[in-house]
Order: sequence, then C-alpha cells, then structure tokens
Amino acid sequence: MYDEKTEKLLIEKSRELLKLDIKKIDKESAKKIVNDLRDVIRYHDYRYYVLAQPVISDYEYDKLFKLLKDIEAKFPDLVTPDSPTQRIPSEITKIFPEVKHLTPMLSLDNSYNEQDLRDFDRRVRELTGLDIVEYTVEPKFDGAGISLVYENDLFIRGATRGDGEVGEEITNNLKTIKTIPLSALFSKYGIKKVEIRGEVLIKKEIFKQLNEERIKEGLVPFANPRNMAAGSIRLQDPREVAKRNLEAFVYQITYAENEKGENILGKIILKHSENIKMLHLLGFKTPFEVMKVCKGIEEVIDYCNYWQEKRDSYPYEIDGMVIKVNDIPLYEKLGFTSHHPRWAIAYKFKARQATTKILNVVFQVGRTGAITPVAKLEPVEIGGVIVSSVSLINEDFIKEKDIRIGDTVLIERAGDVIPYVVMVIKEARTGNEKPIEFPKTCPSCGYPIKRPLGEAVYRCFNIDCPAQVVERIIHFTSKDAMDIRGLSEATVKKFYKLNLLKSIPDIYRLNFSLIKQIPGFGEKSVNNLKQAIEESKNRPIYRLIYGLGIRYVGEATAKTLASAIRCVEDLQKFSKEDLMKLPDIGEKVADEIYNFFHTERNIKIIQELKEVGVKTCEEREEKKEGKLKGLVFVFTGALDCCSREKAKEIVESLGGEVSDTVSKKVNYLVVGKEPGSKLQKAQKIPTIKIISEEQFLELIK
Ligand code: IVH
Repeated sequence: MYDEKTEKLLIEKSRELLKLDIKKIDKESAKKIVNDLRDVIRYHDYRYYVLAQPVISDYEYDKLFKLLKDIEAKFPDLVTPDSPTQRIPSEITKIFPEVKHLTPMLSLDNSYNEQDLRDFDRRVRELTGLDIVEYTVEPKFDGAGISLVYENDLFIRGATRGDGEVGEEITNNLKTIKTIPLSALFSKYGIKKVEIRGEVLIKKEIFKQLNEERIKEGLVPFANPRNMAAGSIRLQDPREVAKRNLEAFVYQITYAENEKGENILGKIILKHSENIKMLHLLGFKTPFEVMKVCKGIEEVIDYCNYWQEKRDSYPYEIDGMVIKVNDIPLYEKLGFTSHHPRWAIAYKFKARQATTKILNVVFQVGRTGAITPVAKLEPVEIGGVIVSSVSLINEDFIKEKDIRIGDTVLIERAGDVIPYVVMVIKEARTGNEKPIEFPKTCPSCGYPIKRPLGEAVYRCFNIDCPAQVVERIIHFTSKDAMDIRGLSEATVKKFYKLNLLKSIPDIYRLNFSLIKQIPGFGEKSVNNLKQAIEESKNRPIYRLIYGLGIRYVGEATAKTLASAIRCVEDLQKFSKEDLMKLPDIGEKVADEIYNFFHTERNIKIIQELKEVGVKTCEEREEKKEGKLKGLVFVFTGALDCCSREKAKEIVESLGGEVSDTVSKKVNYLVVGKEPGSKLQKAQKIPTIKIISEEQFLELIK
C-alpha cells in the first residue's frame, strides 16, 4: 500500500506536524497543514488498524488527530467528506467472515485534563437538565476491542471491531479464552439475546514472559500487550490462540432483548453499574471490583487522579479511565456525535511513549566499572518530563533491537521506571544510520575493557579509574545512602577535579577554607555542607553498608546485613556460607560481599571512616518477640486490607520477616487479587503455606 520512500516521508512529516501550535496557524497555511494531517493520519490508521504495526505512539496519533479536528473546527469550510474526522477508520483484513454488529461499535471521545472532564459534565447537565449526574468510572483497558453475542444463554458469536459497523467473526478464537463463558444464565434476568462489548488483554507479566520466549526462538517481540492481543485474536489456528494466555474483560451491554423481541435496555435495565454487577455475577471478568459510582464530576476527577498514580501496579495495561453516565435512560437524551456517544468519555493518562531520534551514543563508567552505552536523544517530552538520554543497557540489547546512531526510536517511560527503548522504527531509516561501536578501552582511564565470560556487560577493572571513584563517592552521598545534601553529583565531580575529594573518607576531611574560595560557594552554603556532612556521621549502619556500593547490595540486603552484625567491621569474619544463611542472600551476592570485605583497600576505607567519626557500630535491635517470630512472609497480588508497606510493618511488628522473593526460607505466601508469578513458584515448594488475605488477617489478629 505504501512504498518505503513514502513511509519515510510520512513519518518525518508526522514529527514536523507534532511541533505545530494551533494558535499560530492562519487560514492561508491551514489548507496545506490540513491536507498533510489527513495524509499522515490515513497512513497511521493503516499501520494501526490493518497491519497492527503502529509507527508512532498512541499519544502522538491522538495529538495529530486532535490538531486536525481543532483546525477544522476553526476553519469549517476546510472540512471535506473524506477527512479522517468524518468517518471511523475502515479497511479490515478479510481473513475471517464479516459480521454486522447489532449496534455500531463506536469509539470514545478523549479528555486529557480536569477541565476537559468538567466541560463534559457541563454538557451532560445541560442536555439532561440535571443538577448533579451519577457517573461510573472504570479502567480503560488497552487491548483489542471485541463484541460478544449471547442468545438463549449461549455464546453464539464473537467479533473484532472492524470498521465499527462490520467486524470479523472470530467466535472460535474467542471460545479459547477462558474468561469468556460459553454459556451464561441471562434468562434469569429476562434476557433472551444480548450484545456485550469488551476487550481482549494479556497480563503485563505474561506479556513479558511470552516476549522473552519469542526472542529466544528468534521471533520478533511484540511492541506492547495491545499488539500482542490484537495479533492473537486474529490467528488462524485457535489452538495457537489458546496458548497465548489471553483474557477478556467485558464492560458494556449495548443491546438486550426479551422473549418478546423488545429491546429492554433503558426500559427494564436501568443502570450501567447494575449491568456490570450482573455480568460479574454471571461469571464474566469485568471491572466490577474497581469500578466506582460517583456523584458529580469532582468525585470522578479524584478517582481518575487516584488511578493515574496506581496505574503501574495494576496487572493489566490501562491507558486511562472511562467515565459513563450511570442512568441508561439518559443515553437517548444525550445521543451520539458522528463518532462517539455523548454519555461517555475516556480520560487518558499522561502518555508514556514517544518517538525521537538518537543523536549520538556515549559510554558511561559506573561505580562497579560497568560500561553502559547511553544514547543522547533529540529531547522529547514523555509524561510531563523531558527525556534527552536513554540507557541502551548493553551490547546484547543493542544487537537484539538493531539500534543505530541516527535511528528513530520509540521510547517508553513508565512511572518511576527509567526510560527504555521499546523499538527502532525501521521504516524511518534513511540509510545514513551508523552502527554503535564499543570502545576497546575505558573512556575514563584508558585501561583495556573486558566482557567477562557469561556476563552481559563490559567492565573496566582498574579500581582507581577516576570515573569509578567519582561514581562511588556520588553513591555514598546519595539520598538513600548517607544523604549528604550539598554534595550533589556536580559538586562531587568539581571537588574531585580540584583534588579536594579523592576518596570516600576525604568527604570528612574537606578543606572548607579552600572551598570558600571556589566561586559559587558562599559562607552559607559551606556551613550547610559542613552541617550535612556532620549529620551523616550518625546514620544507621545499614545506610553506610549500602553507601559502600558493594555490587548487588541494595537497601534491602544492606538491612539484612546490618541486622546480623553490631559493627560493619564484623562482616570481615563472615564466611560465604555464613552470608548465605541470611535471608535473600544467594551465592552470587555472598561472593561479592565476601570479596568486598576481604579486599584491603575496602577495609582501609571503613577504618578511615571510623577514624573520622562515622558511626560504624550500633546496638543490635533485639528481634522483636511476637507471634510471627522466625516466620518469613511473601506477598503477591493486591491486598484489600492495606498497602504492601503496611502489611510489612504489621508482620515486622509481630517479629516476622517479609521477603520479596519466593525461596525455601519462606513460610507463608499471602495471595491477594491478581497474583503474579510468585504463586506458581511457591506451589512448587511444598514447605510454603499458601494462604488467602483472610487467613493472613486471622494469623495477625
Ligand atoms: S465503553 C460506546 N469501556 O476504548 C462506548 N470502552 O476509544 C463503548 N475501552 O472501543 C465502549 N476500556 O475498545 C468502554 N471500560 C471501557 C473500556 C473501553 C477500553 C476501549 C474500547 C473502545 C475504546 C474507545
């Protein structure tokens, strides 16, 4: 449909159009822009709907679409009947038989902020004449839309969305999805025939596993769970579909007929929330547990904001929330625009993906000598943060994704997770892209670098390598370690260059009268720095252990070590076997700890820290006596009672321990909602008792 050259042009054009500001567009320039927008949107529709291989993020697509809509609203005589805004994208892959939906499968209007939601509410109130409207709020599942028909309590037909009017019949494929009941007692509710809308999804965790398997088999990984779901329901062999671990959520009844053949939706069936409850009771997977009925838009806004934060901990990919008027009889009053119902709207979360260009690749040396390739990017905003560099992880990652300098890449930034390259947009290549070459020597000290057998990273083994020393000092001063404010990354680097700070103990021997002479360091900032350094001498010793920067020793392991000793120096007496007896410490970690405390220069650092007054000993808190003494708990899935943190606190206050990983040392696995892979792991270890949240609450009563 599109040749390579055209694709490149269209992608480049999209990126130019994304930079436009509607306020600066006049009638004269609008004509060409509108034409360009239509061309690129048609292309992206084709990539997305027909090929299921998008080359821009959804957010960017929505932005282009919105721009076209806005310009057309500003200059209505530019609207043409064939504009993408005037029709629902068509073109279906004609592999499965076509079926007409009982009611059209419409899409939802989007909103991006609180104001959009208030505007929506105002329109609803104006059209219904109500003062306050009851809404339901539920997740917007990011999968593949489906339509299901049940007649005489039997699942008779399942279809994809297609062009909204006509979809592809995929009944046999959908029957393999275990969350879709093959029969359901709708007759109990006086319903003879019903049409239900829903979404086929894949759990984020399973998506990851399946993609890893695909990579091992040499297959191209899917870009995201939605693409995997959309691709899977159109596979021609239902047995293959069954292997994909698909699930289906249903979230809307669009048609319901009684024995007499009358549509009873909005007549006898009156509330959306009741429908969801009914579907839930009939055995469907629904948003029932997380759906909220809200009185008025402010409650809606609060719930949307709450979910924006919670999004990453939900086991399924969701890209927003859907707000629906709860009273079905009002649907008729509100009606539809050409594309959307006026009784519902989607609230889209801040985008987590964007495309941009790799300008260059630099190599950074970490505190353990690991050399990490870092791509410098054309700065791009993702979820409210400007991203201008991204780690390319290691050589294998670069090879696997075939990343080159000059490539256009899709970047994802989820929650607090560091940005990540999802894929290279190969269609955007011009032929001028350059392969990424690893250096032969350390970019900081010039020592030859090596990739040890069985490891994924190159390392610089020069322990005096300036970059490593600086990174170790930065780590030592960081917030979760000794938390020395005033000694920022930049300051550490500056002091190192000025020969003021050459090792960790030097922090406590800084020459403040010299520092006062450095431009930018006034009396006040020097005093603050002095005080921050002084305060850091008394941190709990687990922070000191963490701050030493032992490979694989994070905060949790540092706490484990601290609770096993009185003084940091005591760790010199631990054998590897002693270390492995501690919770969550395996052979690899034990090796690193053992080696660290048997290396002379490290012992010297600890000795010097002690001499300058850093606390290295503390009285051991006696293990709390309590009914859970000696018991180790692991949690999986969401708990109703409380957050994970709270549950951990309770267990610890009763003398028990909480671990993040399932191992033979674990006594109890507490299973919450939507448990993860820990459950399967625990099932293989007979000594672990698997208990529900209720049983857990009973134990801690
Ligand atoms: S309601 C007419 N509820 O989002 C309204 N849709 O852009 C029927 N979606 O095509 C849809 N989660 O594929 C509804 N909780 C939810 C949804 C949801 C995801 C999808 C659906 C729809 C698209 C709208």
